[in-house]
Amino acid sequence: MGEARALSKAEAVRLGPPDWKQACHALLYAPCPGRLFGKIPLRFAVLMQMRFDGHLGFPGGFVDPGDICLEEGLNRELHEELGPGAASLHVAESDYLSSHASEKPQRVVAHFYAKQLSLEELRTLEDRATQAKDHGFEVMGLIRVPLYTLRDGVGGLPAFLSNTFIGNAREQLIHALDILQLVPGEQLQKAVTVAQKRP
Ligand code: IMP
Repeated sequence: MGEARALSKAEAVRLGPPDWKQACHALLYAPCPGRLFGKIPLRFAVLMQMRFDGHLGFPGGFVDPGDICLEEGLNRELHEELGPGAASLHVAESDYLSSHASEKPQRVVAHFYAKQLSLEELRTLEDRATQAKDHGFEVMGLIRVPLYTLRDGVGGLPAFLSNTFIGNAREQLIHALDILQLVPGEQLQKAVTVAQKRP
């Protein structure tokens, strides 16, 4: 995806077919009290997925022009990608975070949502994700984002941010970690800077 331009949801939905496609993705997260090696607080479990193309992204996908609303399309995509553990999952209009338009390689508006679950609900999603229709095809597996930074200053979130992300998924992740306060601001900023300097 080329440069992505932020725009309001109202502006974004006016960019309709046949010129523009609309995609919706969601960050699902839960408070997570555990500690890595009994020491480093995990704080939250944040889900992303390894895609068929080797890039990291969020669950979701293209919304059909026939869908009643964006959220209906998003929930259908989530059920396809996450499987039976997502049966009672419902992402709503109130979970909306942002919209970005990009023109390359195709004209796509990417809408982004975030929803907090209980840790038990998130674990159920993880446990049953291999039963999803798309598992092993479009989705190679769910992963959790490491939110901490190890003592070497690179391991954890900085190294994670150095991966390859689809579209503007990396920017969506950083923005969500910031505004949902899943990572303290200064630590997040440092992780972004370290990731940018890595080869
Ligand atoms: P597909 O999943 O490859 O069908 O992607 C549909 C569209 O959504 C493409 O334009 C992707 O670049 C974009 N896309 C896929 N996953 C994400 C994501 O997690 N965040 C933002 N855009 C995404």
